[in-house]
Amino acid sequence: MTKLFEETETYYASREFKKDASIFAADLYLDAKFGREKFWAKQAKHLDWIKPWHTILEWTPPDAKWFVGGTLNACYNCVDRHITGETRNKAAIIWEGERGDTRTLTYWDLYREVSKFANVLKSRGIKKGDTVAIYMPMIPEAIISMLACCRIGAIHTVVFGGFSADALNDRVQDSGAKLVITADGGFRKGNLIRLKDHCSHPSIVVKHAGCDVEMVEGKDLWYHELMQNASSDCPVEEMDAEDRLFILYTSGTTGKPKGIVHTTGGYMVGANRTTAWVFDLKPSDIYWCTADVGWITGHTYVVYGPLSNGATQLIYEGSPDYPQKDRFWKLIEKYGVTILYTAPTAIRTFMKWGTEWPAGCNLSSLRLLGSVGEPINPEAWLWYYTHIGQKKCPIVDTWWQTETGSIMIAPLPAHTPLKPGSATFTLPGIEADIIDNVLAITSPWPSMLRGIHNDPERFYSTYWQKWDGKYYYTSDGAKRDADGYFWLMGRVDDVMNISGHRIGTMEVESALVDYPQIAEAAVIGVEHAIKGQGIWAFVLLKDGVQVTDDLEATVKQHVCAKIGAIARPERIIFTRDLPKTRSGKIMRRLLRDIAEGRVLGDLTTLADSSIIQELKSQYDD
Ligand code: WT7
Repeated sequence: MTKLFEETETYYASREFKKDASIFAADLYLDAKFGREKFWAKQAKHLDWIKPWHTILEWTPPDAKWFVGGTLNACYNCVDRHITGETRNKAAIIWEGERGDTRTLTYWDLYREVSKFANVLKSRGIKKGDTVAIYMPMIPEAIISMLACCRIGAIHTVVFGGFSADALNDRVQDSGAKLVITADGGFRKGNLIRLKDHCSHPSIVVKHAGCDVEMVEGKDLWYHELMQNASSDCPVEEMDAEDRLFILYTSGTTGKPKGIVHTTGGYMVGANRTTAWVFDLKPSDIYWCTADVGWITGHTYVVYGPLSNGATQLIYEGSPDYPQKDRFWKLIEKYGVTILYTAPTAIRTFMKWGTEWPAGCNLSSLRLLGSVGEPINPEAWLWYYTHIGQKKCPIVDTWWQTETGSIMIAPLPAHTPLKPGSATFTLPGIEADIIDNVLAITSPWPSMLRGIHNDPERFYSTYWQKWDGKYYYTSDGAKRDADGYFWLMGRVDDVMNISGHRIGTMEVESALVDYPQIAEAAVIGVEHAIKGQGIWAFVLLKDGVQVTDDLEATVKQHVCAKIGAIARPERIIFTRDLPKTRSGKIMRRLLRDIAEGRVLGDLTTLADSSIIQELKSQYDD
């Protein structure tokens, strides 16, 4: 991979792209400059409010309240307000399953389905303030479930369908969810992924895969049976701007994922506006964000952003190489996709597969490309630009986090000259700086997290303590060039970025030491050509345990069962000890030096430096 922060050419949007732009970026930047809070208040008027706010922002660091006194409903903004005008019969969701089955839901269809399911939830005793977990494949019911929750004021916590039973259980426990909405199964690479089997809580089950599932009487109910007699008349709940909209779990530096809390008003303003700005969204667009709803990208840029803007979007259930390696390009050709938002790891995979796959399809409908999840290396940027965008589509590289709720640093496509590998500048109304080589967000923004569920201390210590509660600590290393462009350099904490997904080293370590024969483990993220980073685990076995031929495979399988396949280690290295400081802290940095072939740094803080020398010579061979 080429290094980041290597200046290449600068790319400008074509005259044609500029001519058609619906967003006047210069006006936005100017407006924001004259008063950030007023600017956001003006932007918030793009949503439908039930009651207006009396105060734009109450900021008692680190606690922010936006649009205080205002009330609204997120589902109303995504659905109801589109069924009165021209968008009523517009496609909201064009869905294609991995096996080629298709469904289209207009805004009117969505309104009926969501209202019916909201009534179903009510009939199951779910009410305002309750939490509901959603554990689903990428099917329309995943979105219907999310919207039905917010319609009645329930808080959803979506758990990625690739997570294991244990991971689901942890999140259901921590969030206090009363019910799990799931499916019998889903499809990925032609394989059936059984979801209901992982779920031991009271559930509502969508029949999607058609596989046999065990339904426990009085505990598990079929979605389609409940929907049969449900009324499509369900009033929306009036929510305070600061009422919780959802909890989404993300990995941190401890073994336990944290439940990031987002509220209704500010989050919706961020989701709605950034979608319109960054994608320069127009009514005629066919928008496709390839993220799963189990991640924040799926929340903001599949559900709340596009739908609150009345967009038409494509949703695809499965894998990009099923039945062949051109599935994405076939979908773009078939549906005339105009905006594609995906991740660098996917782009590097496509590069590896070769240009013949996209070249065999007509991609001329595309007008804009997006990237998210990790820094995009200039090689991948150029390949995306040339072979997918055919040198006519700007690429928006979008930096943000689960915690920020919506995009923070990104170009506005008709306006910002692009430098491959840089997310460019903060969006209007967002202020950031670099302090001690780490990106800091220096003023509150509407879609900021409001806390960690049940853990205010961790909220403060993770994000605010560093700069005395004044600035938000992102944990991302960053630089700025002479033109003021931001260059994101990756995490500075013990969080890995595997294919654009956050996984904590400690999380994998806890899964490893849970294996009966393992005494200790140290996990690091090591540069990986496709995934960005891959997981390497240094493992210390208990006394007397012998390394057998199948032990490595069994240990890897154990991690998958504890967390999910995304956390599968690339390598397990059995070692007689781990490099630790005298106070017992594992020196992961030294392990990374070894794995990535660097000269070893300072070893004087180690309790016993012989182990690191030993590992090093083992590696140099
Ligand atoms: C972390 C957040 C936000 C949606 C997807 C991931 C990294 C994300 C970029 C980008 C450089 C990026 C950061 C960040 N990241 N997008 N465009 N350039 N780095 O959400 O799981 O909360 O992870 O992903 O390290 O902190 P997430």
